[in-house]
Amino acid sequence: MNPSGTYSVLDSGSGRKLEKVGSFILDRPCAQAVWNKSVSENEWKNVHAIFSREGGNSWSYRKTLPREWVIEVDGLKFYISPTDFGHLGVFPEHRYSWGFMAELIKSADRKLRVLNLFSYSGAATLAACKAGAEVTHVDASQKINDLAKRNIILNELDPAKVKWITDDVIKYLKREEKRGSRYDGIILDPPSFGRGSKGEVFKIDTHLPEIIKLCRSVMNDNPSFIILTCHTPGYTPLTLKNILTQAMKGKGGEIETRELTLDRGESPLPIPAGYFAAWKRG
Ligand SMILES: C[S@@+](CC[C@H](N)C(=O)[O-])C[C@H]1O[C@@H](n2cnc3c(N)ncnc32)[C@H](O)[C@@H]1O
Repeated sequence: MNPSGTYSVLDSGSGRKLEKVGSFILDRPCAQAVWNKSVSENEWKNVHAIFSREGGNSWSYRKTLPREWVIEVDGLKFYISPTDFGHLGVFPEHRYSWGFMAELIKSADRKLRVLNLFSYSGAATLAACKAGAEVTHVDASQKINDLAKRNIILNELDPAKVKWITDDVIKYLKREEKRGSRYDGIILDPPSFGRGSKGEVFKIDTHLPEIIKLCRSVMNDNPSFIILTCHTPGYTPLTLKNILTQAMKGKGGEIETRELTLDRGESPLPIPAGYFAAWKRG
């Protein structure tokens, strides 16, 4: 399937965002958009579908929308389909992480071994594979991992070269620690709340310290990077920086932080969409 276009934000405001996803225009909730809309209400009416959380999650269709289509974001192709939760199959605010990681992988003096945790549809797995890393992809959902595999094939990469793990992140990290499996780079995007493959409860406030400690123990003696992103309120760039400063104590290197945004396209105002912190070897 050929991409029908890329991702861009056309406008945001009054708790909504107007997005062009390939050749289709969607109106979805956006709690962060506490400002006013910038473009006319007429433009907001010219949409293919609207997602609403009021009275239960639902899509309402204004024009024909395919069940699935393909878009390309920063050279990576993704299958897109509107889900019951209002998700589409990619979080484009992470494009900064993809580029940051790809640079480190390409400039390394060896093939890097990368661990992608909470990996969803595999955007970071794609970026790391394409840059030449050996990747282990960990997500609790088999359905999501099947989609990630399809995304790998869509990008003409070999899914057999990725280690696919359907498991709880903490359980997997503990097993890797025990068997002495070590990584050059780790990327993790923990949700506020989640469930492992057997229903294990994950709460960022309770479990992030344990996950970071385990990540540190599965890094090799000369690691290249750890990238930590969050969408949870309060997990600001400084919070994430402090977590990584403690975790990487004694390793030197440097930490970069930023706010993630959705801002490519015609949107006059960038939308805040999470936080990023990364440690990299100096
Ligand atoms: C917000 S998404 C991550 C987005 C992803 N990093 C990206 O850039 O596309 C959260 C993912 O974490 C997974 N997840 C939640 N709790 C988990 C757990 N305890 N162990 C493994 N995966 C989990 C979910 O299945 C979901 O795919």
